[in-house]
Amino acid sequence: MLKPTLCILLIVVFLCSLALAQPQTAPVDAEGHQWWQHAVFYEVYPRSFMDSNNDGIGDLNGIASKMDYLKWLGVDAIWITPCFPSPQVDFGYDVSNYVDIDPMYGTLKDFDRMEATGKTNNVSIVLDLVVNHTSDQHKWFLQSESSKANPYRDWYIWRDGKAPNQPPNNWISIFGGSAWQWSGKTSQYYYHFFYPQQPDLNWRNPKVKDAMFDVTRFWYKRGVVGFRLDAVDTLFEDPNLHDNPVLPGKDAYGQANQERKYNTNLPEVMQVLAGLRTVANQYHGVLIGETWTDTVEQLKRYYGPQHDRIQMPMDLAFTKLQPLSASVFRRHIANVVGSGEWPVWVMSNHDITRAYSRFADGKHDDAIAKVLAGMYLTLPGTPILYYGEEIGMQNNNPKRKEDVKDPIGRLGWPKEKGRDGERTPMQWNDSPNAGFTTGIPWLPIPTGYRTHNVATEKKDPNSILNFYRQVIALHKTNPALLNGDWVPVNENDDNVLAYLRRYRDEAMLVVLNMSANSQKESFDLSQQGFSGNEAQTLLSTDGSASTAKLKALTLEPFGVYIGKVSRK
Ligand code: GLC
Repeated sequence: MLKPTLCILLIVVFLCSLALAQPQTAPVDAEGHQWWQHAVFYEVYPRSFMDSNNDGIGDLNGIASKMDYLKWLGVDAIWITPCFPSPQVDFGYDVSNYVDIDPMYGTLKDFDRMEATGKTNNVSIVLDLVVNHTSDQHKWFLQSESSKANPYRDWYIWRDGKAPNQPPNNWISIFGGSAWQWSGKTSQYYYHFFYPQQPDLNWRNPKVKDAMFDVTRFWYKRGVVGFRLDAVDTLFEDPNLHDNPVLPGKDAYGQANQERKYNTNLPEVMQVLAGLRTVANQYHGVLIGETWTDTVEQLKRYYGPQHDRIQMPMDLAFTKLQPLSASVFRRHIANVVGSGEWPVWVMSNHDITRAYSRFADGKHDDAIAKVLAGMYLTLPGTPILYYGEEIGMQNNNPKRKEDVKDPIGRLGWPKEKGRDGERTPMQWNDSPNAGFTTGIPWLPIPTGYRTHNVATEKKDPNSILNFYRQVIALHKTNPALLNGDWVPVNENDDNVLAYLRRYRDEAMLVVLNMSANSQKESFDLSQQGFSGNEAQTLLSTDGSASTAKLKALTLEPFGVYIGKVSRK
């Protein structure tokens, strides 16, 4: 029998451990939501956001100068992709020092100033933690490569070849070629999931873990509110180096496809995420994950059974949905919302073709951009915008191989054109170089900037920008959009995606015409508890009257209607 005092002690320890697993900040509403659940996030690609010194590349002072714009738009937090010192082989995702700023972007002082300007504008900073690998110029790797006896040797993954001139196994890099790079200094191979200049850290070494956890502490103490964790699926590899099964077909680089069974998604990943979360909790930090999943079950794992892993794993499967159809999106949203977790919605980022271009039909492009915004900013969950999305920036893919900057675009040309197209400078106004720089921009700006830019769109009440701003304002203030459940209505409609966000005695009715024809909708919401005949219009793309008849709601091609219904 356990003594009563011991029992009480055990219960206290158990409760404390539960409390530790939970976010440490006070909830912002009666539903127990944390600040990041009600926030709008925005990804900034620092090379391309705003250039303050006119060298053609964006910088931190440039970002600071646009904090008032972000506030105006309704953004609460920006995730800045890596701005640490880097040889820039992978444009910052090859970090050579995790605790400094690359001189091309500024200094630590500039970072502090930007962070302070952000605070004044209620815009928080999230940094990008490249956890899987460093640059081959990082001092840890330079040491590691220098000799087998070096104390840093075991910080990376070194192996003998299978035979002379043969890598240890068949694993291939996602960026082309073998995943093993020969190093003559010690006559061994090192492992790299991405470019050879991005050697993988050995996360089985506790010293690596401690060092990376310390990196997060350094930045939390400097005021960042969290991290976007890069490429988390690739943290661990099978120590026995089993060959991956080969699949039919070839990738863009001409190599046989393979199932990355032994070098991605190993269960150990989850322990690292839980460890990063423990540190985050001490600083009220929030963790966003670059989480590529095929199923909702996979997505669920990242939250953790006790919600003790990452708070915001991105639903990147959302970025793969095609075509724009009510049934495709309805099914996916129902699955994600049905998982019971807090979703994180993303439409575009620096690695994928912009949504504006993915769904453009050449005729209704701007209207389609509004449908996408009207959808994902009214779903339950936290949205992460990609810079320029709010003005309808399009992809600008290179036309010639010699213009490509992203190495994978040169390696895989023409099948893989690289990611330059989605990384072009932010379009601020209609002056030359879209007001981004007076120098030569590092990537060319598409001609569409003359109409699709912040200054021009601010003046046009019907612009994509003003539509985003209005939906964001609703997203952040409307109790039903913040807290309500998600109930699809008219579920058999292939053209129109419609749903309610129900909260207490009210609901928002969101109606999205995903077709190129006008549509006449009729809603009977009595089963959902709303028996009235009318909705009070809050936002619509065709300037509808202040009320709409639920039995005869007409939508223009790719039109959006958002209205409020109340219980009678
Ligand atoms: C992530 C980043 C991508 C980068 C890769 C390697 O996928 O989003 O831009 O190339 O990791 O760090």
